[in-house]
Amino acid sequence: MSTRKIQIFDTTLRDGEQVPGCKLNTPEKIEIARNLEKLGVDVIEAGFPISSPGDFKSVMEISKAVTEPIVCGLSRAVVKDIETAAEALKYAKRPRIHTGIGTSDSHILHKFNSNRDEIIERAVAAVKYAKRFVEDVEFYAEDAGRTDNEYLARVCEAVVAAGATVLNIPDTTGYCLPHEYGAKIKYLKENVKGIDKAILSTHCHNDLGLATANSIEGVIHGAGQIECTINGIGERAGNTSLEEVVMIMRQHPYLNLITGVEAKMLYPISQLVSEKMQMFVQPNKAIVGSNAFAHSSGIHQDGVIKNRETYEIMDPSDVGVDQSLIVLTARSGRAALAYRAHKIGYQLTKDALDEVYERFLAVADRKKEVYDEDIHEMMKDVKIELSA
Ligand code: KIV
Ligand code: ZN
Repeated sequence: MSTRKIQIFDTTLRDGEQVPGCKLNTPEKIEIARNLEKLGVDVIEAGFPISSPGDFKSVMEISKAVTEPIVCGLSRAVVKDIETAAEALKYAKRPRIHTGIGTSDSHILHKFNSNRDEIIERAVAAVKYAKRFVEDVEFYAEDAGRTDNEYLARVCEAVVAAGATVLNIPDTTGYCLPHEYGAKIKYLKENVKGIDKAILSTHCHNDLGLATANSIEGVIHGAGQIECTINGIGERAGNTSLEEVVMIMRQHPYLNLITGVEAKMLYPISQLVSEKMQMFVQPNKAIVGSNAFAHSSGIHQDGVIKNRETYEIMDPSDVGVDQSLIVLTARSGRAALAYRAHKIGYQLTKDALDEVYERFLAVADRKKEVYDEDIHEMMKDVKIELSA
């Protein structure tokens, strides 16, 4: 099987920014966009230009600020939206208009009060109109996750014929199971005439905690692009987390899927986005959470001290985290205490360790976590001689 490069489409500044209370100003967005460029993403979705003058300005300024990645602006399948996106993208070295419409029966009926054939006409008209301004036009079939595959294939075929270069298949409501989403991508790959002229893209939401799994199933079954956000932020339960999909592909080389992402930047950029959006990262978040490389139980600590790989499948330094953490709690054993004491300058004999460990347990039972200053305190009047 030959290796495929998966395009990473970052939508932190568009779908990610839809999180209530996380609005960024233009300079903050530019700073994040520059860092996304350094991270090596292929596409930056910089905003939804028609939505506000601020979003318009941000898309325009980001278009000037970055050179390597494609800069993308969102629009509905509406003339004014498309014109505004094109205008906002006019300075982009590599502009992309992202346009689309809902394709599930629920969207067609309740949102558009329309029918399937009319939706196809509107989709085609939007793509053709966007092509007047830019060569690279991505089409999204909103709620594709709940759209029946046969109709979705008809929509895709029509927009590819109209010139769409990328077909975004969003699981807008995060409803699909991984095998269903994978099967959907496979179905499109096998049943859409002209599919080789376009890249299939995953865009998964995390309402059932399946966004990452669905995106990976999508690329395994032929998608060539993943849409995702830093820290998995986004509407409701969020989008696919960029750091997760990148590290899954990296840690499972037999998948033969690679990305252009510089993994060492994952932790720093996670921190940057968290700080700018004032949205803290949950401690147990995979890859970038503060506990992702922290070990607290005695058995795990002993194992990690002997050999990191016993309980770690990634080297923290590969994702820009300084080192694994041994967290001292009442569940820690002697090995962890000796290890930490050694780090702060105490080489304990076996007898000294026994004595200090008794004290350690007493302190640990009182406190949630034992810190270096507590250890210094415990050492103060240890009667047993400490080795040098
Ligand atoms: O989730 C979704 O369907 C979207 C589209 C607008 C691309 O974000
Ligand atoms: Zn979305």
